[in-house]
Amino acid sequence: MHRERFGAEPEIFVGPGRVNLIGEHTDYAEGFVMPAAINFSTLAGISQRSDGKIAIYSENQGEERVFDGVQAARSNHWTDYPMGVIAILSSLASEEERKISGFSLSIWSDVPMSSGLSSSAALEVATALAVLSLVGASYPGPKLARLCQRAENEFVGANCGIMDQFISLNAEKDHALLLDCRDLSFKLAPIPDHVALVIANTMVKHSVAGGDYPTRRRESEAACAVIASHKPGVKFLRDCTLADLEKWGSEMEPKSYLRAKHVISENLRTVAACEALLKGDMKELGRLMAEAHQSYSRDFEGSCVEADAMVALAADLPGLIGARLTGGGFGGCTINLVEQSEAAAFAEALGARYAEQTGIVPQIHVCHASGGAHRLE
Ligand code: GLA
Repeated sequence: MHRERFGAEPEIFVGPGRVNLIGEHTDYAEGFVMPAAINFSTLAGISQRSDGKIAIYSENQGEERVFDGVQAARSNHWTDYPMGVIAILSSLASEEERKISGFSLSIWSDVPMSSGLSSSAALEVATALAVLSLVGASYPGPKLARLCQRAENEFVGANCGIMDQFISLNAEKDHALLLDCRDLSFKLAPIPDHVALVIANTMVKHSVAGGDYPTRRRESEAACAVIASHKPGVKFLRDCTLADLEKWGSEMEPKSYLRAKHVISENLRTVAACEALLKGDMKELGRLMAEAHQSYSRDFEGSCVEADAMVALAADLPGLIGARLTGGGFGGCTINLVEQSEAAAFAEALGARYAEQTGIVPQIHVCHASGGAHRLE
């Protein structure tokens, strides 16, 4: 499609979506997350053009926009995601990056949008690799993840953490990745062959940009401010313990207390879940996922009726190891770790139960953990 539209052979780059096994709303608190990249991705094709313009076409949106050059501000349009990355990269100091302009970019994706599987990060990351290759520059994965996150925070105006961009760039095939969002150090944990990632889309739309995500973030940060006023050195909920919360919780808004309870306990669960996975203790991993869902739903109030139903309906199906709502919340997908041998039957049974209970036909995908962003050979 790129060749037909733009008359030039593109170089193509792949940015995968992700599923988070555990560790929700902990990344911007400098805590722990344990995502894996999935076999749904965004492709960005790029070729040079001689008129200095930047053309961006999305096959999914069925729309092309042509810009005179790098834009300084958002236009509240889907092109903000790629343009944000282009703007951040071209604002950097190196001579190569100052040459960013004059190219055609075409985008195609099979990451379901607004489903909590990081279609935004996949788009940012694929764009970043494409643009950097055109000007002959490159960055280590963790640094590029930060730049893509900045594009989303500053240009798009969505206050996300580092998890999605980081895993899209740095994932390893067949592994989950425990990320310390404070210093971006990480540990890879192999996902055993007998375990499938079954992703169940509630079909309820999720979004980071508006509404509840920033509200929850503010509520949890308000709790942290109360603890910080008593305990020097505390900057993020990562620095707080459940004992701190009990000690000063009465000074907090009740909602803030509950949000912080989720974040602090979720950090502990996430580190424990990685240990369980490394030991092959699937029972413990499943238990932690169930606890994480309860905490996300009850204390963080980050779930919705449909996602709670999807988790509950999975509970007694053969082969289930653990299930929870994944991603930013208020809709989107659940992640089910399921015995591979039962995965197909599990997916079918869960879909039928969910449709019967909610009247919504879900999309259920049996996925595997994929490698990180790369150039398509
Ligand atoms: C979204 C954000 C991430 C993270 C999750 C919640 O996916 O983009 O940074 O905060 O929500 O864990």
